[in-house]
Amino acid sequence: MIKFGMDYFKNNGKQWLAEDVPLSDIAKEIGTPCYVYSRAAFVQAWQSFDIAFNAHPHRVNFAVKANSNIAVLNILAQCGAGFDIVSMGELARVLKAKGNPAHIVFSGVGKSHEELSYALKVGVGCINVESKSEVLRLNELAIALQKKAPIAFRINPDVDPKSHPYISTGLQENKFGIPMVNALAIYQFAATLPGIQIEGLSFHIGSQIIELSPIIEALDKILILIEQLKSNGITIQHLNVGGGLGIRYHQEMPPKPAEYVKAILSKIKQSKEPNIKIYVEPGRAIAANAGVLLTRVEYIKNHGSRDKSFAIVDAAMNDLIRPAFYNAWQDIFSVTNPNSDVLEKKYDIVGPVCESSDFLGKDRMLSIKEGELIAIGSVGAYGFSMSSNYNSRPRVAEVMVDKDRFQVVRCRETIDDLFAAETLLTN
Ligand code: LLP
Repeated sequence: MIKFGMDYFKNNGKQWLAEDVPLSDIAKEIGTPCYVYSRAAFVQAWQSFDIAFNAHPHRVNFAVKANSNIAVLNILAQCGAGFDIVSMGELARVLKAKGNPAHIVFSGVGKSHEELSYALKVGVGCINVESKSEVLRLNELAIALQKKAPIAFRINPDVDPKSHPYISTGLQENKFGIPMVNALAIYQFAATLPGIQIEGLSFHIGSQIIELSPIIEALDKILILIEQLKSNGITIQHLNVGGGLGIRYHQEMPPKPAEYVKAILSKIKQSKEPNIKIYVEPGRAIAANAGVLLTRVEYIKNHGSRDKSFAIVDAAMNDLIRPAFYNAWQDIFSVTNPNSDVLEKKYDIVGPVCESSDFLGKDRMLSIKEGELIAIGSVGAYGFSMSSNYNSRPRVAEVMVDKDRFQVVRCRETIDDLFAAETLLTN
């Protein structure tokens, strides 16, 4: 038995395993909470995009913000992945993980001088520019370094992705990109700048998209713009369609990567640029189902009048913020459930942090007792990468499983790590 899209986590009738390793063995050796990833799941998910493109010129760039552990990035680099990054820190991580700088796209609405010159010095493949001020800054930096900065403009197609408002980015009201009406003028302006080399055009309308129609609507608008640019003498070498393909956390029915790519390619084939190189930059759809968060039930607390109990676990909102932040639903299950002799009851699964929003799941039917090991599903994306030290909680360990072996790929932080960068005032 497997869970939703989590093909590399299975139940052997006794307990849950990551590939061939029982999750309880990992908890015993590494302790809880900890993130556990499946190597094969990352590889399979990345390949599902890559293979779908078949012979069409393309590159599948992993959105590093979803999971920036260098072991994960290295696994994907070995597959041939490119990377979508949004900060100097992410750039350094990709280089550390042996990613090819020429296969890096630098996105983001507020890149600093320092970030842009670092990107130019290491030779990133493309910088996605989001304003006139940014292209001017980049031009100056490139001239000073005697280089030409390869760029795409990020265009905001003003399309509703029909997902959570916090993760919608392609509407005019969002801070991202350049409005369609200003696109031609900014390309024409950039073409006059000696430090700028126009390479592409990019858009990204949002995340956890579960219908293809908004992406197709954006693509329609963008393809018209590319024609318009061409008739004004501006040639685009690649079209970056962004990331955003959703996954099934609960009852969503998102298209599969192959269906998503097929829909994009069929639009492209009908356009005036049928062979244009396509970049796609999925984060969630590659990483989410490659990871679980293991946590142990510390206490079970019953409040007399409530029809449900609290299961207080050792993981909290600082370790996984999606439920608190987006009211996101993540699957929660007992790791050794089939052997449970405890009656199923309704629980709110909460952590030890001093906030009422510190919950990992609400109204879940579980048969659990104190000390029980439970797992939270589909947390390989935006799980650890959004974790923090709130309430002075050390960040948890990350473990990578490869068939019947596992390795810690990020140590659990220690209490000393918490204030290692702090100093007492000197007089
Ligand atoms: N490209 C750009 C320019 C982006 O801004 C993003 C995500 C991606 C690609 C990757 O999107 P994905 O394929 O993962 O949907 N923390 C939120 C998600 C925020 C996404 C931000 N941008 C969450 O936990 O749901």
